[in-house]
Amino acid sequence: MKVIFFSSVFALIALDVVLANPCAKPPPADVKQCCEFPMPLEGALVESCINQYGAQSMRVIQSILTGGPPRGACVAECLSNATGMVNGVDVNVDLLVAGFKMAADGKPEWVPIIESSIPECAGMVKAMAPELEKASKLPPLDPADPICSGGPGFMLFCAVKTLFQSCPAKYFKSTPECNELKTYANTCPLGF
Ligand SMILES: *[C@@H]1O[C@H](CO)[C@@H](O)[C@H](O)[C@H]1NC(C)=O
Repeated sequence: MKVIFFSSVFALIALDVVLANPCAKPPPADVKQCCEFPMPLEGALVESCINQYGAQSMRVIQSILTGGPPRGACVAECLSNATGMVNGVDVNVDLLVAGFKMAADGKPEWVPIIESSIPECAGMVKAMAPELEKASKLPPLDPADPICSGGPGFMLFCAVKTLFQSCPAKYFKSTPECNELKTYANTCPLGF
């Protein structure tokens, strides 16, 4: 998913969250500034989904980071509806692999990473099906929020996280801030 979303969401969360556990407060570094990774989603689509559902999704992410149960982020469902990436817990692996590969045009180092990460994440989402099913029955965090399915959000989280974790040295900016973000991604289960 577009990193603007993640970075702004997490910057806000960082202000908010008490340091109850080290994973509740992601470091401020911007994923996209730290690693040049492929992202197939169009900026205009991402922006439109964030405009519609950003507040809902921010509440969801904050709740999950502070130990709450899985929930669906509507920004991700909106992206998924528009692209057909995920339907419930069924990830369209071929479509996503093709999209990421296209976005990685001219950066062949990413191809094997995409080919292993996307199916792995799809398997994870499938394994989470019972939990995600429960999530869709929880009342929304804000009474006015729509309820969205969890599959798309977890798929996107997983894709961004695993691509970032596997970032080839050539595309990784090894600054103290980015290294801190990498440690966070490697040690926190839902690190960004
Ligand atoms: C996604 O599509 C489903 C089925 O048409 C719809 O019920 C849901 O509201 C849509 N979600 C978003 C976030 O637009």
